[in-house]
Amino acid sequence: MILVTGGAGFIGSNFVLDWLAQTDEPVLNLDKLTYAGNLENLASVQGDARHVFVQGDIGDSALLDSLLAQHQPRAVLNFAAESHVDRSIHGPEDFIQTNVVGTLRLLQSVRAYWQVRDEARRAQFRFLHVSTDEVYGSLSATDAAFTESNKLEPNSPYSASKAASDHLVRAWLHTYGLPVLTTNCSNNYGPLHFPEKLIPLMIVNALAGKPLPIYGDGLQVRDWLYVKDHCSAIRRVLQAGRVGEIYNVGGWNEKPNIEIVNTVCALLDELRPRADGGSYRSQISYVQDRPGHDRRYAIDASKIERELGWRPAETFESGIRKTVQWYLDNQAWVTHVQSGAYREWVQTNYAQRQ
Ligand code: NAD
Ligand code: TYD
Repeated sequence: MILVTGGAGFIGSNFVLDWLAQTDEPVLNLDKLTYAGNLENLASVQGDARHVFVQGDIGDSALLDSLLAQHQPRAVLNFAAESHVDRSIHGPEDFIQTNVVGTLRLLQSVRAYWQVRDEARRAQFRFLHVSTDEVYGSLSATDAAFTESNKLEPNSPYSASKAASDHLVRAWLHTYGLPVLTTNCSNNYGPLHFPEKLIPLMIVNALAGKPLPIYGDGLQVRDWLYVKDHCSAIRRVLQAGRVGEIYNVGGWNEKPNIEIVNTVCALLDELRPRADGGSYRSQISYVQDRPGHDRRYAIDASKIERELGWRPAETFESGIRKTVQWYLDNQAWVTHVQSGAYREWVQTNYAQRQ
């Protein structure tokens, strides 16, 4: 079986669902169930014997040691993280605790487990670390896209904590020989995305008749990848990636934030027109910028294409339409995740930006 950490979050749960749809290999899913973890994401595999869910922390060494000994996975895929830049600005400690200390503890337990396997199993074993393009820092409009040999120049507490974890993973290969793989992916979007991030926040706010808050001038650029394409890239890297290598994963879809929000509004105007006949665009509201806001991220994904033959299946146009439709079809999911804790976060992040 494989061990997935953070498999109740946005990307992790999409990965688990896709994995079980494509293979019969069981998944052990270890997730702390923070505000971002949601077992409802996994409802369709709840009675499936191939999916074993354990609520727990990647920083809990005793739990890790016992899970590894009991289930003997052939690979560990580390999705678990604190993942939201704005939250990292308000409270960086949790990011260091999970993304840095948690990854360290996970690496230590995995190393102890891996070291005592027989030679064939040691050779086959993989530790795949799921990271982000944000570790490379910010680009100007004319800079070339990030390649795997770019320096790590993280600018936010979130990206600094992810860069630290990337360095730890690299060190566990070079020092201990642990067979690691790292993926650095651009911004994901798609079903099951927690509505604190740009695209789902805009969809749920638009439908609720609330303002659509654009930070600063809205011309910051991100490279967007449909989440199912990220999942297929991770499967491919696990299957055929060269040990010790980093693979950048991206959608070849650079877009300024304001264009993303205009696209979401246009789709909602078409699929769920406002009762008053107006456009959702009229809800757009420019607000105070994020401190240290990275201007542009862009991924050069040619290495994974050249070496592993991976390319995204969705265009931005097809992926964003599916995403908006998913939120329209899953209003109950949205209502459930907008708990008291979610409302407190919205108050903390947006009240002071007006
Ligand atoms: P998410 O915040 O939606 O989910 C994170 C999951 O990890 C949650 O289920 C949470 O409960 C769990 N978790 C948090 N702390 C934990 C701990 N200490 N122990 C065990 N579980 C814990 O995040 P996501 O968007 O699904 O991102 C998953 C991974 O992909 C992260 O490592 C992130 O850095 C990376 N990534 C995300 C994006 C993106 O656009 N969302 C892009 C590139 C890379
Ligand atoms: P986000 O989804 O938080 O991802 P990241 O910061 O990891 O790229 O934000 C994507 C972009 O959208 C980023 O440039 C910040 C911007 N943004 C807004 O303009 N308004 C918002 O309310 C949010 C959440 C993000």
